[in-house]
Amino acid sequence: MSPATPGAPSAPTQGAPTGAPAAAFATRSIHGGRTPDPTTGAILTPIHQSTTFVQDGVGEHRGYTYSRDTNPTVATLEAALGSLEGAPPAVCTATGMAATSVLCLALLSAGDRVVVGEVVYGGTTRLLRRVLSRFDVRVDAADASDPVAWRAALAEPAALCIVESPANPTLALCDLAAAAEAAHAAGARLVVDNTFLTPALQSPFEFGADVVLYSTTKSIEGHNATLGGALLSRDADLLERFRLVRKTLGAPQSPFEAWLTLRGLKTLELRMARHSSSALAVARFLAEHPAVARVAHPFLDGFPQAELARRQQRDGGGLVAVELTGGVPAAHAFVRATRCFALAENLGSAESLVTHPATMTHGDLDPAERARLGIGDGLVRLSVGLEDPADLVADLDRALAAAGGAR
Ligand SMILES: Cc1ncc(COP(=O)(O)O)c(C=O)c1O
Repeated sequence: MSPATPGAPSAPTQGAPTGAPAAAFATRSIHGGRTPDPTTGAILTPIHQSTTFVQDGVGEHRGYTYSRDTNPTVATLEAALGSLEGAPPAVCTATGMAATSVLCLALLSAGDRVVVGEVVYGGTTRLLRRVLSRFDVRVDAADASDPVAWRAALAEPAALCIVESPANPTLALCDLAAAAEAAHAAGARLVVDNTFLTPALQSPFEFGADVVLYSTTKSIEGHNATLGGALLSRDADLLERFRLVRKTLGAPQSPFEAWLTLRGLKTLELRMARHSSSALAVARFLAEHPAVARVAHPFLDGFPQAELARRQQRDGGGLVAVELTGGVPAAHAFVRATRCFALAENLGSAESLVTHPATMTHGDLDPAERARLGIGDGLVRLSVGLEDPADLVADLDRALAAAGGAR
């Protein structure tokens, strides 16, 4: 590889602006991994919308050859994410599910066993149960919010463990340090899907995770504008395996989406603080409402795992799970009546969103299984956006009145 590529990032920096000491999160979210464009001085990394890169001679290039392998704009995002997680540059993929697929194909072989949290994003379960099971990968689900059940599931050896904390959609937490210890004792690597909290609010490597996974589609980009995924690890060998599978599978992040995600990162800390404070305000309002059977938010007083939430998270995050009395009819009337909260399957965006997991994201599960996992018919998941919290509360108040008529 020859040095400096005109218009391309040189060796990505790991955090602070050049020459500065290690910087705080907000500073890294703006400067980490970035340098001004060496050709023009543009302060923002250009969108290198190019499939291929001209070589001076066979094997003589500037670090970039073909964008399915790597691309300068994507490489800048990878370095920026690495700097926020205290890790080497990430491996960024086309979607969050592409990241999960790359992870599994890179780390699993026929005959391996995976232990997955029983409440995780439905696509993760679908990949494991309906696709990888055909390749002789054994999948066992365990309650990741119960350290005793989790340890019991790992009494037998395993290759990989996948957890979310908070989990989608119940918001049950997993004690990450305990989960890592049990995984390692069974010979497994622990993967934490940190999509809900982002590196602004939770740092899974501090608790022993081997891989951190993101759907950057959610809060990291934060504006409902992109699809993307990322895998981070402190193990250079794992990163190399991820890069090989991403290139071979053909699942890289696109330069334009990477550029939008770089922009989203700059406000990540501010947005996560606002999402968290507004979600807490919404949860407090809902907890007092007679049409509400149960509310979950990790920083709400009375949350069953409040101590763990404060130990593991820097704030509560933007999601609220609310169980309405009145089951499916009340939930459907509620999601139809909200105005600020759009009925849509995403989370972590500026716009507030609402979903009904039992008939949307988790509709694949049979009703008895859903009930056992705490995904009741009346459960509604709110992704609290960046609008004025008073308007959000007023919207929910009105929608609850409408849902009352459906009871
Ligand atoms: C926690 C979590 N992980 C992964 C994914 C998959 O991400 P994507 O939709 O970007 O493929 C999602 C999507 O909703 C998610 O909620």
